[in-house]
Amino acid sequence: MCPRAVAAIFLAAIVFVSCENCEKPSNVEIIVYDHVNGDVKNINAEGVITLSEDVFQVLVANQTIRKLCQNYVIINNELTVLQLLNNSIEDISPSAFNISATLALLKISANPLNRIKKGVFNEVRTKELDLSNNNIAVIEADALDNNTYLEIIKLNHNFIKKFDPNWFTRTPNVYKISAIYNEITKIPAYAFMNMTKLRPLKIRLSANSIEEIDPLALEGAGPIDTFRVTGNRIQELPYNLFVNKTIKNLQVDMNKLQCFPDSLFESSLTDLQFSGNDFFNCSCLIKVKTFVEAKSISVIYPSIICEDKANEIQIVFNNDKSYKIPVTKPSSI
Ligand SMILES: *[C@@H]1O[C@H](CO)[C@@H](O)[C@H](O)[C@H]1NC(C)=O
Ligand SMILES: *[C@@H]1O[C@H](CO)[C@@H](O)[C@H](O)[C@H]1NC(C)=O
Ligand SMILES: *[C@@H]1O[C@H](CO)[C@@H](O)[C@H](O)[C@H]1NC(C)=O
Ligand SMILES: *[C@@H]1O[C@H](CO)[C@@H](O)[C@H](O)[C@H]1NC(C)=O
Ligand SMILES: *[C@@H]1O[C@H](CO)[C@@H](O)[C@H](O)[C@H]1NC(C)=O
Ligand SMILES: *[C@@H]1O[C@H](CO)[C@@H](O)[C@H](O)[C@H]1NC(C)=O
Ligand SMILES: *[C@@H]1O[C@H](CO)[C@@H](O)[C@H](O)[C@H]1NC(C)=O
Repeated sequence: MCPRAVAAIFLAAIVFVSCENCEKPSNVEIIVYDHVNGDVKNINAEGVITLSEDVFQVLVANQTIRKLCQNYVIINNELTVLQLLNNSIEDISPSAFNISATLALLKISANPLNRIKKGVFNEVRTKELDLSNNNIAVIEADALDNNTYLEIIKLNHNFIKKFDPNWFTRTPNVYKISAIYNEITKIPAYAFMNMTKLRPLKIRLSANSIEEIDPLALEGAGPIDTFRVTGNRIQELPYNLFVNKTIKNLQVDMNKLQCFPDSLFESSLTDLQFSGNDFFNCSCLIKVKTFVEAKSISVIYPSIICEDKANEIQIVFNNDKSYKIPVTKPSSI
């Protein structure tokens, strides 16, 4: 335990804590937003970030903090949003956040943070954790273990290479994971199994380097509202992805697909987007057209012109439409 001397000043209190190997920066400016009267106050925190009354939001931006030491943020008052933006944070010690309130959003962004360790977020009560726009390459398997408050996890614009199903171990309320613009190459088996079963899932993994979706990727997962993997390198969707699963919105634009597995044509999709799969097979594309028209599925096609020789027509696919154009026969001489 660290000895401390507390001196409360207005909203924020100054707390001096001496801990080995972790120096809390002095003179950090924090901005406090009060939701009742809309007041905004700038406060200098000499050491720990804390509050002496209930407020709506605490914003710490453009400061130099480097490391969030243990018990760096101690908040026992009510708080809804906490944001730490562009503060040169490279590392976060376990138990850096000691917050008793239930936050709606904890956002740590635009920091050179590259690893999310176990012990930092397991006990933070927040519905949304937004760690977008950092340098995160690794999230330890048990980094979110047991966090029953979490519902939304955003990891956009980082350097994550591996999607780990263990991120959701005993996090029974997570329904949305967004990790666009990362370096994920594979969606593994049972990837979403331990996400919530209480509401439809939203999965956003666009703009990665995904080449492979494990046939068991959706095994054990609840119904899926949105499955977005636009802008990857997917050549094939596994047959099992649509067997006994519910996916409402499937977005696979800008991949390398040539066809869908037969199981897709038995599925209960309501929305299908696959533009930018420029080598999609024409006979498969015509099958998709029949399927989406019969089931009134909203669709975005790749831009492709297909010949239907038997009927002497060309079918032009573009955006949400397809057109039939008669092939002009060469005039006989
Ligand atoms: C942080 O710096 C950026 C760029 O200089 C500026 O746009 C932004 O308003 C600053 N944020 C705060 C809270 O001062
Ligand atoms: C980040 O903060 C520094 C000051 O510490 C400021 O110069 C810079 O403009 C900020 N960058 C952004 C993107 O807000
Ligand atoms: C959180 O801060 C309180 C002081 O407000 C302290 O008593 C408690 O030990 C801290 N919790 C942890 C896990 O360090
Ligand atoms: C989560 O809870 C389980 C069971 O209580 C415990 O064994 C495990 O160590 C906890 N994980 C973390 C990261 O605290
Ligand atoms: C998911 O939960 C089940 C039981 O609820 C457990 O057996 C399994 O190990 C968990 N898997 C992961 C990847 O967390
Ligand atoms: C799908 O569900 C049906 C009916 O519940 C079952 O008979 C079938 O074995 C299941 N198929 C797979 C691949 O799990
Ligand atoms: C397109 O798919 C059909 C049937 O699925 C197949 O017979 C044909 O060879 C494929 N065409 C190309 C160019 O791959």
